[in-house]
Amino acid sequence: KPLVFSGVQPTGNLHLGNYLGAIRKFVALQENNDCIYCVVDLHALTAQLVHEDMPGQIRSITAAFLASGIDPKSHIVFNQSAVPQHAELAWIFNCVARIGWMNRMTQFKDKAGKDREQASLGLYAYPSLMAADILVYRATHVPVGEDQKQHLELTRDIAMKFNLDFMDHIRRAGQGIDITVGDEPVHAYFPMVEPLIDGPAPRVMSLKDGTKKMSKSDPSDLSRINLMDDAEAISKKIRKAKTDPDALPSETEGLKGRPEADNLVGIFAALADKSKEDVLKDFGGQQFSVFKPALVDLAVEVLSPISAEMRRLMADPAHIDSILRDGGERARARAEKTMNEVRDIIGFVK
Ligand code: TYM
Repeated sequence: KPLVFSGVQPTGNLHLGNYLGAIRKFVALQENNDCIYCVVDLHALTAQLVHEDMPGQIRSITAAFLASGIDPKSHIVFNQSAVPQHAELAWIFNCVARIGWMNRMTQFKDKAGKDREQASLGLYAYPSLMAADILVYRATHVPVGEDQKQHLELTRDIAMKFNLDFMDHIRRAGQGIDITVGDEPVHAYFPMVEPLIDGPAPRVMSLKDGTKKMSKSDPSDLSRINLMDDAEAISKKIRKAKTDPDALPSETEGLKGRPEADNLVGIFAALADKSKEDVLKDFGGQQFSVFKPALVDLAVEVLSPISAEMRRLMADPAHIDSILRDGGERARARAEKTMNEVRDIIGFVK
């Protein structure tokens, strides 16, 4: 079975972008894959070093995974810090990755802000830890939102440089497999990961501005739907969402140049497990005064059972912790197998 890995940071409240761009896809992938889903608590330190309630944040992301339908018995749910092998491999990747590669990361540029000298070294090395998260399991498929695409390209670059630089060592250690990259034969240890960014909502936009990503850092709460919003809040935010005065088109072609309409149709499609084409077959020619109430009903129908279940789960933190502990143990065993091989490949004396 293909191995799927993905992670979500325990910072701020989860919003509809996180749900449609990532978590909803995590759930669907369980059927035909072996899945590992991680609450990336080490990454959370890059945005903000000290967290008021780190345990609560970690548990709330875990609760969101479980409430959305992730099965922690058939798959693995854990928090990153429980598996120190992530940080160990990240160090090695820090020595593989080039400063020039990191300098091209747009997320670093956005998050570091104007005074880059004051950004933490961790924020800079963030994508190297992300590559380690995935490759410490030698996972091949990574469901993420569109904003993570560049990080996954970097993950491939790191894997490829490791494979090429250590090619003889990999063979000598009796590890790896022969693959071809382009026309080049390579004896590879780490796989080339494939991002899974497809679907109708790879980039959910702000409800207030169709050209800005929906994000937890937007100062306006009206710009996003939070996973924990109640029916009233969801309804208010969708009713107030920015639109244009025209009716919906009957073909996706007609959404071009209409970012707000495109965004709402994409959200509807993702929530309904339909394509945007199918949504427009039903709503083409209709005004937003018809479409928005239908979207409110759908969003409430999908999200309210999730937030109710999250609340129920959060009332029993010990239960959540036991799930994380069990997942952590199973993840650690797998990660240690890889690290053991990586130490052999590099030539560390044991
Ligand atoms: P994070 O915690 O910022 O976001 C979690 C997931 O939500 C997706 N996402 C969105 N998708 C669509 N539209 C949006 N507006 C939107 N906002 C967020 C993100 O793309 C992500 O999939 N670096 C990652 C966490 C991470 C990770 C990994 C992911 C760490 N290690 C290894 C995959 C594999 C992040 O900060 O996600």
